[in-house]
Amino acid sequence: MDQKIVNEIQELKQKRKAVILAHNYQLPEIQDLADFCGDSLGLSIEASKTDAEVIVFCGVRFMAETAKILSPDKKVVMPDPWAGCPMADMITAEQLCGLKGKCRDALVVCYVNSTAAVKAESDYCCTSANAVEVVNSLPRDRRIIFVPDQHLGRFVEEKTGRELILWPGYCPTHALIGEDDIREARQEHPAAVVMVHPECSEPVKHMADALLSTGQMLKFVKASPAKEFIVATEVGLIHPLKKVRPDAQFIPAGSRAVCPNMKKTTVEKVLASLTNLEYEVTVPKDIRLMAKRSLERMVEILPEK
Ligand code: 13P
Ligand code: SF4
Repeated sequence: MDQKIVNEIQELKQKRKAVILAHNYQLPEIQDLADFCGDSLGLSIEASKTDAEVIVFCGVRFMAETAKILSPDKKVVMPDPWAGCPMADMITAEQLCGLKGKCRDALVVCYVNSTAAVKAESDYCCTSANAVEVVNSLPRDRRIIFVPDQHLGRFVEEKTGRELILWPGYCPTHALIGEDDIREARQEHPAAVVMVHPECSEPVKHMADALLSTGQMLKFVKASPAKEFIVATEVGLIHPLKKVRPDAQFIPAGSRAVCPNMKKTTVEKVLASLTNLEYEVTVPKDIRLMAKRSLERMVEILPEK
């Protein structure tokens, strides 16, 4: 990594009273220069309590929007304005309203991987770390619409024993992890523990020893006596996993699960972002206020330890 650029970033960060937040799938050099790395829930909590004046969000758009909704008085910038999440774009607010119209009694839970407009039309938001707790907290006599990730939705159905009204969205990156990838990794590493993200398909999830969000995977390996782990999620997570357990071996389940959007943020773009305070993320006030309710309910419901 170019140390000169990193020094410039650190200097500018002080000057701008900025904080750099990075998702666990970001490039290693971005994670290394961030003030806080985490999963979607951890980043949302951090964004809601930081006293910095500027948040530089190294992740994808829905995450930066979430930070803006929770901290409307702060300037939120993304180093690459085109870093989006294709799953978040698989449902529009209009489509959600259409579904709500057909199921009038239902409560709506949306995965945080959704647009601000979809959050505004939802009652509760959740991440993969607290989706089960969020659904369990809802009255049993109410039907629940769950959008947009059908795979996380099915995981929640299994864990809660409740039937959900699902939307057919999915993560194109986690869809690249197949049963053969797990099988091959297991053949070479029979003693390895298989960790799978809930965004993976059902057959892959059924091969898991543990189903965990990225933040939960980091906690899990820290506490585990195992020396080998097969990791079925985006490959960026291998970097923080190695930091937590330098003595352990982490085997990616295949090497295709690379989210192109998560890799758009580079050190050079972070420097430009801090220099020019670009690219600002804004959310219209009416949408922001409505989305805030569902996000605040999410931040209050923490996953079980
Ligand atoms: P988590 O880090 O919350 O597990 O989310 C995974 C993801 O795909 C974010 O885009
Ligand atoms: Fe979206 Fe999947 Fe990329 Fe996460 S890994 S940002 S869910 S496309």
